[in-house]
Amino acid sequence: MTQINNLIKIYLISSLFIGFVSCKSDLKEKPAIQVLSIDSLEADLFQEPFRPQFHFTPSEKWMNDPNGMVFHKGIYHLFYQYYPEDIVWGPMHWGHATSTDLIHWEHKGIKLFPDEHGYIFSGSAVVDHSNSSGLGSTEDPPLVAIFTYHDPKGEKEGKLNFQTQGLAYSNDNGETWTKYKNNPIIDNPGIKDIRDPKVRWHESSKNWIMTLAVGDHISFYASKNLIQWKKLSDFGNEIGAHGGVWECPDLFPMPLGETGDTKWVLLVSINPGGPNGGSATQYFVGSFDGINFVPDDNKTRWIDFGADNYAGVTFSNVTDDKKLFLGWMSNWDYAQVTPTKTWRSAMTIPRELNLIYEDENYYLKSTPVKSLENLYTNTSIKKDIEIKGAYELSELKLDQADILMETQLNKAFSIKISNKLDEYVLLQFDPEKQLISFDRRKSGQINFSEKFANKIHTLPYSVSDKVSEIRIILDQASLEIFIDNGRYVLTEQVFPNEPYNKLSIISNATIGIKTLNINQIKSIWTNE
Ligand code: FRU
Repeated sequence: MTQINNLIKIYLISSLFIGFVSCKSDLKEKPAIQVLSIDSLEADLFQEPFRPQFHFTPSEKWMNDPNGMVFHKGIYHLFYQYYPEDIVWGPMHWGHATSTDLIHWEHKGIKLFPDEHGYIFSGSAVVDHSNSSGLGSTEDPPLVAIFTYHDPKGEKEGKLNFQTQGLAYSNDNGETWTKYKNNPIIDNPGIKDIRDPKVRWHESSKNWIMTLAVGDHISFYASKNLIQWKKLSDFGNEIGAHGGVWECPDLFPMPLGETGDTKWVLLVSINPGGPNGGSATQYFVGSFDGINFVPDDNKTRWIDFGADNYAGVTFSNVTDDKKLFLGWMSNWDYAQVTPTKTWRSAMTIPRELNLIYEDENYYLKSTPVKSLENLYTNTSIKKDIEIKGAYELSELKLDQADILMETQLNKAFSIKISNKLDEYVLLQFDPEKQLISFDRRKSGQINFSEKFANKIHTLPYSVSDKVSEIRIILDQASLEIFIDNGRYVLTEQVFPNEPYNKLSIISNATIGIKTLNINQIKSIWTNE
């Protein structure tokens, strides 16, 4: 409760703020006045319209990418791109939150502030176990964060070298951070977009490896001490999607199913150029020998075909070698104008990634973390339902729910989720075209941006007779859809004017639903 009281205090003070809006695309500071109404002072914190109840959101103001995600001494640390003075993008700070289960979060304030080298853009954090940096001790290893400095002055002056890489460290488990005295640690070689360093330990070369987004490709660097870095190689000039700038990469090894093989996976966010418009995250599967990343094929793969999963990377130092992923649940096409008033943006539900090889293709499967299930209340279970026509369940509470359904994906059918105002979303399976589609054109408020609901989102799927799971997680203003046990994913924001309360499954042919479980999910902000 103290946490909530403190948040209320922060909220009341900052609601009176008169600030400056700056626009992300050109970074020009435009004076603008933002005065929140007296009504908003009375709004119940974390009860505002569209406030997610079990996804991470900042207590107030603007948030984008997850940063510096690291597991240390039993605690998951999440840092994030944060602008504390407005609900649009502005001079970037690193906000901080911690969790022991990846579902309940404690807000820890701002940990990195802009300085003479610029704003603090995205980056990563590692535990320097051997104290290779000399910034702590082996008994008490430092946490080391490596991030991009973005110098707005240099950018305004038309220079190319306004992004450099900086370092900060913590000797008290992430509570306080000291910027390295000789920042920046990597100067800019004269390239406009060079950012978002993701650092990991590479055992066989005994090097720290940094993966850096450079224009629309990747550069790898190596270091023995996290401070001096040497460039190793480039990747991606002639492969993958290139509809926009590459951002927020992540390189990590993964076991390939049960085969005993290990593959290296490279995540690369791209904006614009996503499969359904705007921002999205592609990935490559191949090998990494400590110097070069070599992909196994030249296919373009997407971790999520929905419009709202961007800049996601994995937690470092996760001891049982699970790959835990978290993305920013928005899209630069409209992120700054979504209809929230006191805060803007949420993270996706944390997901465990697994790599499989099926139908001569690699797939990253995404599964929501198990601890989400601890929030289940009121589960309704139905079995062996046969449907021809429309099967409808109304008077449901679908504002916070986890729907799990087992069925075959070999016949055409739709799942419609709607409210009394007849606002709805529609998920359709078309085995003939081998296409899944998601329609949010009538989902609720859509007019805040012409790019939000201008088309149906689609993704290809392979049709088979096996029974697959479809899972739909709803939390006030989002749906996260995991199809075929997470092989196909769609993360989508929605802004219904009333909570959805009806589930319809519609099919012309007879289909069988083996199980249909609807779990309600309680809020992480209640004390129950
Ligand atoms: C991705 C991104 C990063 C950058 C950050 C700035 O969304 O553009 O490339 O570091 O946001 O906030």
